[in-house]
Amino acid sequence: MFPTQQLQLCSRDRQPTIQTAPGTDPGPLQVRNMEAQDVDFVAQLLVESFSDKFEHAVGKSRMEGAVQQTTRMLGRSRDVWHRYLIAVYDGRPAGLIVMKFHGDTAEEDFQCGEACSYLGCWGTRGLVCLRCCTSMEDISAGEGYVDRICVDANFRGKGIGKMLLDRADFDARRRGCTAIFLWVKQGNRAVHLYERQGYVITETANGIFRCFMQCGVGSPDWCKMEKQL
Ligand SMILES: CC(C)(COP(=O)(O)OP(=O)(O)OC[C@H]1O[C@@H](n2cnc3c(N)ncnc32)[C@H](O)[C@@H]1OP(=O)(O)O)[C@@H](O)C(=O)NCCC(=O)NCCS
Repeated sequence: MFPTQQLQLCSRDRQPTIQTAPGTDPGPLQVRNMEAQDVDFVAQLLVESFSDKFEHAVGKSRMEGAVQQTTRMLGRSRDVWHRYLIAVYDGRPAGLIVMKFHGDTAEEDFQCGEACSYLGCWGTRGLVCLRCCTSMEDISAGEGYVDRICVDANFRGKGIGKMLLDRADFDARRRGCTAIFLWVKQGNRAVHLYERQGYVITETANGIFRCFMQCGVGSPDWCKMEKQL
């Protein structure tokens, strides 16, 4: 989409500097766009990393079905792959970040009949509810939205999450965004990471939204964190 890997940063106080896209310098940690070979990894990682949400939605006994359904759905949803960046550590896929920007209306090709075959009627109902709660974000022009970020448990604590967030900042700036935001469950350890990256809490879920999140995701306590770029 953007041919150059470089960004010219300007400010009133500093001379313009050229910054390379995080994850493209030589080294053990690389960040690249999602490809067909990543579909299995992405599906497995999403369900594992957000197992509390998936368990709430489909039930503990259907987690393998959730992985299979996610794999099939993602595999044919090429229109949304551009949102996914994959972190590769020593040649192995290790994490991912999903970014959305204003005007990106592509949707995953979710098929109820297929979901039913993996998750049954009850599990499909839960998944539909979960998808409603996690895909209703309104993204204004000039904002970048971190939809999901996760790192394989075997690779955590090595700076991969930080690198993915740095890359998200870079890509958002390159698109002309002046702010980036995400939603996180209160008490999630990841809040420390976001604060270190410069995010601050700007909103907490309240009213009917809490109720909605409790029902769809299994917890009412969410907060919005934003960073000015
Ligand atoms: C959050 C996450 C992406 C961080 O990736 P990472 O590569 O371990 O991050 P880094 O090595 O750059 O930074 C380490 C920081 O990540 C966070 N972190 C580490 N393990 C975590 C875990 N199991 N769950 C949530 N956050 C975690 C902490 O803030 C940690 O800093 P701390 O040790 O000072 O508390 C990763 O832990 C993860 O996938 N967690 C599960 C999914 C999740 O909660 N995603 C966030 C949804 S909003």
